[in-house]
Amino acid sequence: YSEEQTTEDYLFKIVLVGDSAVGKSNLLARFARDEFYPNSKSTIGVEFQTQKMEINGKEIKAQIWDTAGQERFRAVTSAYYRGAVGALLVYDISRRQTFNNISRWLNELHTHSDMNVVTILVGNKSDLKDAREVSTAEGKALAEAQGLFFIETSALDSSNVAAAFQTVVIEIY
Ligand code: GTP
Ligand code: MG
Repeated sequence: YSEEQTTEDYLFKIVLVGDSAVGKSNLLARFARDEFYPNSKSTIGVEFQTQKMEINGKEIKAQIWDTAGQERFRAVTSAYYRGAVGALLVYDISRRQTFNNISRWLNELHTHSDMNVVTILVGNKSDLKDAREVSTAEGKALAEAQGLFFIETSALDSSNVAAAFQTVVIEIY
């Protein structure tokens, strides 16, 4: 590290992972552009956005990668995970199946990336209170058992969206 180095040196690759329609793309849209799409289509291939963040007075850039939850729309898995230092493992609190599948996503993450990748379990759609199928306690328990951070978010009403990304970046940094 030298004084000449600029903030450009802090570029962290973070991947979004989880079943189709859990809200990965909308979490990214909310975080990077403060936008929400009520009728968004499945992601095809890979998209990414670079977002500047300020942590402890230092500017860092998070390069956030987003791909499809559905196998047939996904890009090459190994390339997606390569170099990732952070991951958001997303499920939908209103669909238990997406929570049940978290262990499979965690396996894939561990297969294709460094074991040290900072990972947060994200229960998205916390605004859907009446449709909730996965309790906060269950989410917390799984995160604890797997050594993950945990947060519940809503891309719709913005709650905890920035906090989810910041938790990962602060821990990497
Ligand atoms: P794939 O690209 O297929 O893997 O899906 P995805 O995980 O990127 O899901 P996406 O962001 O496209 O969202 C799927 C649907 O859920 C869309 O209709 C969104 O509007 C909706 N959605 C996303 N986040 C939220 C949320 O926090 N609350 C509610 N109520 N709906 C949400
Ligand atoms: Mg998507």
